Amino acid sequence: MTDSALVVGGTRFIGRHVVEDLLDNGYEVTIFNRGNHDNPFSGNDDVARVEGDRTNDTDLRAAALSVKPDIVVDCVAYRPADVEAAVEIFSDVDGYVYVSSGSAYAAEEIPKREGETELCGCTPEQAEDDSMDSYGARKAEGDRIVDRAAKDGVNVMSVRPCIVYGPHDYTERMDYWLDRVLNYDRVVVPGDGQHVWHRAYVEDVASALRIVAEEGDPGEAYNVGDRRLVTIEEMVDLVADAADTECDVVRASERELSTGGLSTSDFVLYREYPHVLGTAKLAALGWDSTPLSEAMARTLAEHRESDRDGSEHDPGREAEERVIGVLDTV
Ligand SMILES: NC(=O)c1ccc[n+]([C@@H]2O[C@H](COP(=O)([O-])OP(=O)(O)OC[C@H]3O[C@@H](n4cnc5c(N)ncnc54)[C@H](OP(=O)(O)O)[C@@H]3O)[C@@H](O)[C@H]2O)c1
Repeated sequence: MTDSALVVGGTRFIGRHVVEDLLDNGYEVTIFNRGNHDNPFSGNDDVARVEGDRTNDTDLRAAALSVKPDIVVDCVAYRPADVEAAVEIFSDVDGYVYVSSGSAYAAEEIPKREGETELCGCTPEQAEDDSMDSYGARKAEGDRIVDRAAKDGVNVMSVRPCIVYGPHDYTERMDYWLDRVLNYDRVVVPGDGQHVWHRAYVEDVASALRIVAEEGDPGEAYNVGDRRLVTIEEMVDLVADAADTECDVVRASERELSTGGLSTSDFVLYREYPHVLGTAKLAALGWDSTPLSEAMARTLAEHRESDRDGSEHDPGREAEERVIGVLDTV
C-alpha cells in the first residue's frame, strides 16, 4: 500500500519542495493550509488539499482524521503551542517532523551540533510573541516539546535548517545577490569576503525532512545545511559561474563602506560571526546535499523566470558606487 504524507503548509517555498520530493518518492500527498496563497499543485490530481488553519486544533484534528497520514511534515509551527497540539493530534503516525530552525541555537560555536550546543531558552511571554526577536526561542521550545513527546512514545523528530535558498524563495535574500551579479560588473561584498553564514539548498531540506520522517530517531533533532560551505565572496563567484558571466568582487570594510553611508549589516546574508551547523548526524541517515554549482544553477534558472529581484534588501546602488569610487582612488 502507498504511504500517505500530510504537509502542513506546502504551497510557498520549503513545503512546496517537500511535496515534490514526497511525490518523487512514491507518497500520496495531502497539503493542509488556509488557501491564502496560490496553490501551485491546484491542477495536479496527485496532490490533495485540506483547507484549515493550523492554529485551530479542530481544523488540524479533522485533517488528521480524514487523511490518516503515515508521515507528517509540519512547515507552519511557529509557536510552542503549535507543536504541543501537533504532537498530540499526530501521536499515532509513523513519523511527525517539526520544521525547527538553526536559530534555535543560543551559543555561538563552530559548528553548532545537535544535543551539544545550547539552545535558546523561552519565557512564557516569548512563547506567545510573534516578533523575529523571539523566533529562535520559540523554535527551541518546540524542539523541547518534541523531545518530551518522544519520551511519551510518540514518533516525533525535528529538523533545524540554516538559511534556506533555492527556487521560489519568497524571502528574496539570494535574489538580491543574483540580481547584483546579473546586472553589474562590480559587486560590493561586505568585509573581507570571508564571512560564512551556512545555507541550505531547499531541495536538500525537503529530502532531509522526508528522510528524517522515515529514518529518524524519535526525540532527535537533525541539522540541515549544504555539506560544503562557501564564504560570501565564494557565493558571489558561484552565482557568476552559474550565470556564465564575469564579476569583479569589491571587498569593502566597515570603514570603507561608511564612505558611502553604508554598514556591513546593510548586506543580506552577511553575518559577522560564522554560523555553521554540523550535518554529520543527518548524513548518517543516508542524506546528502546537491553539489553547490548545481544548486546555484537551478536557483538562478528559476530566478530568471520569476519577478523577484531582492530589491527589498538593496542597500542602494548609488551608495555602493560611492564606496567603489573611493576605493578606486586609494
Ligand atoms: N526560509 C528559511 O531560511 C528557513 C530557515 C529555517 C527554518 N525555516 C522554517 O521553514 C518553515 C517555513 O517554510 P515555508 O514558508 O517555506 O513553507 P511552505 O509550506 O512552503 O509555505 C508556508 C505554508 O503555510 C501555510 N500557512 C501559513 N499559515 C498557516 C496556518 N495558520 N494554517 C495553515 N496553513 C498555514 C501557507 O498557506 P496559506 O497562507 O494559504 O495558509 C503556505 O502553504 C517555517 O517553519 C520556518 O520557521 C525557514
